Amino acid sequence: MTSPSIARLPERVPDTVYPFRVPPAQLFGAGAVEQIGVEAKRLGTRHALIVTDPGVTRAGISSRVRELLEAAGISTGTYEEVQPEPTVAGVERAYDATLGAAPAGSPGGYDAIIGVGGGSAMDTAKALSLRSANPGPVSRYFGVELVPNTGLPLIHVPTTAGTGAEITPNAIFGDEERRLKAGVVSHRLFAQVAIVDPDLTLGVPATVTAASGIDALTHAIESYVAVKATPHTDLYALESIRLIAANLRGAVTRGGDRAARTGQALGSFYAGIAITNAGTGLCHAMAYPLGGAYHVPHGMANALLLPAVLEYNMVADLAKMARVAEAMGEQVVGLSVYDAAQRGVEAVRRLCRDVGLPAGLREVGVSEDALAHFVEGALSAARLIDNNPRRPTPEAVLDVYRRSY
Ligand SMILES: [Fe+2]
Repeated sequence: MTSPSIARLPERVPDTVYPFRVPPAQLFGAGAVEQIGVEAKRLGTRHALIVTDPGVTRAGISSRVRELLEAAGISTGTYEEVQPEPTVAGVERAYDATLGAAPAGSPGGYDAIIGVGGGSAMDTAKALSLRSANPGPVSRYFGVELVPNTGLPLIHVPTTAGTGAEITPNAIFGDEERRLKAGVVSHRLFAQVAIVDPDLTLGVPATVTAASGIDALTHAIESYVAVKATPHTDLYALESIRLIAANLRGAVTRGGDRAARTGQALGSFYAGIAITNAGTGLCHAMAYPLGGAYHVPHGMANALLLPAVLEYNMVADLAKMARVAEAMGEQVVGLSVYDAAQRGVEAVRRLCRDVGLPAGLREVGVSEDALAHFVEGALSAARLIDNNPRRPTPEAVLDVYRRSY
């Protein structure tokens, strides 16, 4: 079967009603952070809690946010101890140090929470919003739509381009007792405002740019081929793939390249919109046990697994993988749909290599004997497994881990 043009392959047309949700206000562009005071005031904020991490603080970004808020007449408190890959216990520590330190019923006088940083800071900000109106620990609400009360309003300012956490209503935490990662998904975790300022990513080191960039690509491709994909999410997902394929190498190799940083930030932002509505799949399900047991950072875990996952998933939707190839910039004219889909997988593998990510799980210290132990954890993420275009067996999951080793 040869295809004169992948663009002429038939699209799936939805035969059901589907929703499309995003935070009510989104600001994108160089200098967007300057408007945080206006946005916070618009929400009626008088006393804001800034939630961030030591690296963002050292980079001077959280102090800039504080200045901007204070210039708008908003007083602030800051929690800057967010650790990478936050845990359930870490959320409780943050709560005790901030909202919980106030008399019962008064969350420290705060009336808004500002997450400034990568996914870890924004997820912790979401958890603190949750905890401002619900008893802890946050693990009580692992699952979908299990949060009973809406907490303090959230504003997010991402400082990396990848997690999409500024858009999503999800927050992921390590559960030390169960040695796994799990997530709270609730519309009550949507931010009121997402402020994406690509200039804030100019100083992000190459390795973090690469890992978070491939996390964003994973979001885009997984949501594009997802069971829950819709025509709305397909628009964002495909454009995200195109932007990331065109800009991630530049953002990694020339950190100060504002055009590349902007393209990558927009790609990541679009991918966040896509996963908010279409979800992720097998790659994320398989990445979580690696984070839980070996503390492999989320983006890195996805990057190591993505090519083999796509190779496995490819046959479930050849037409969509062929379009992925096209969006990645591959020459697909005249190829069969199968060959074009395979080009898509290869293009992803090449991008992961070009941005300097490790070639396999072996290189990040995972023991080969451990792979079999990850299978159950991966398959237990039913929300993601059910959303994967191909229904994986335990044997198939183990095979994908081995191919990623
Ligand atoms: Fe992710």
